[in-house]
Amino acid sequence: MSICILGIESSCDDTSAAVLCDGKLLSNVINTQEIHRKYGGVVPELASRAHQQNIVLVVKEALEIAGKSMRDISAIAFTKGPGLLGSLLVGSSFAKGLAVSSNIPIIGVNHLHGHIFAHFIRESTESSVNPTFPFLCLLVSGGHTLIVLVKAYTQFEILGSTIDDAAGEAFDKCAKVMGLGYPGGPEIDRLASTGNPTKFKFAKPNIPGLDFSFSGLKTSFLYSLRDNIKNNSNFISDNLNDLSASLQSEIVNILLDKLSKAVKMTGITEIAISGGVSANSGLRNGLTKLGQENQWQVHIPKIKYTTDNAAMVAQVGFYMFVDGKTDSIDILPQARLSFSV
Ligand code: KG4
Ligand code: ZN
Repeated sequence: MSICILGIESSCDDTSAAVLCDGKLLSNVINTQEIHRKYGGVVPELASRAHQQNIVLVVKEALEIAGKSMRDISAIAFTKGPGLLGSLLVGSSFAKGLAVSSNIPIIGVNHLHGHIFAHFIRESTESSVNPTFPFLCLLVSGGHTLIVLVKAYTQFEILGSTIDDAAGEAFDKCAKVMGLGYPGGPEIDRLASTGNPTKFKFAKPNIPGLDFSFSGLKTSFLYSLRDNIKNNSNFISDNLNDLSASLQSEIVNILLDKLSKAVKMTGITEIAISGGVSANSGLRNGLTKLGQENQWQVHIPKIKYTTDNAAMVAQVGFYMFVDGKTDSIDILPQARLSFSV
């Protein structure tokens, strides 16, 4: 009998549902909430309301595209955390209600495990190369910056993490001070493509080991704008592409320096990147080049699986279901879920 997992993701501002049967992804519907753009960042209360409005239609569409009904679904996997509590509550309550009415189990998935296992998503017709264990994963998103040693489907070790802002947050906050919209990462990436990455220099963090820091870079970026605006009130608009390219290059260098250090420390050359910032073209190109120079096996996810999506939740849910790891109906979402749970 087929194993079909319905995945539901609602940790932040994307309402998403996916159907994955026997290891193959059949659908992945994502509704990105546009309402936050005008506020320059995600407004938690509006996010949970939008999830409530979207979730029924998103799940219905995911089932329709997959050509499945709830009778075909073996279990529902949903994001249990980390994320915005109000948003998580909508996804988890919906998953529980649907599971009870369909008489099937639920599986709470750690969102961060989802980002890592996005590399294992397979669409029906393709055959491609998965990372092999053990591998190093640089997980870079709006809320997290981690270097994880992935030993097996359920065995992880965090080798480094940020002591302040996440990489995506650094992109978004610097974009905001340049007057760009939210989320700023994709906009900086676009502007950087025609800018000079060596035009401006910003303070480099000096953090020991494999940990990261981005708050100093953000402050240095802010001060540099403030000082230059004194002489030229159009400084930002006159230099938007070069500022974007220089900032992106600094962030990418910080990330790749630590990743290289992790390779030296562990001797592992099987490398993956994941999370929203792994969509960044500077990071993708930089890692590809570094991989070629050092004979690393580099795994770069498809753009559509970099930012939040339910396919990655269904993927982890599939492994957990096969392992017999389902949850009881009283499972609660957790905003601050640690990586290992
Ligand atoms: O993984 P994700 O969708 O949500 C979290 O779990 O946080 O990541 C969102 C983050 C945002 O900070 C966004 O600006 C960043 O990913 N991002 C990018 C790019 N696309 C998304 N940052 C840099 N370049 C991009 N192309
Ligand atoms: Zn995410």
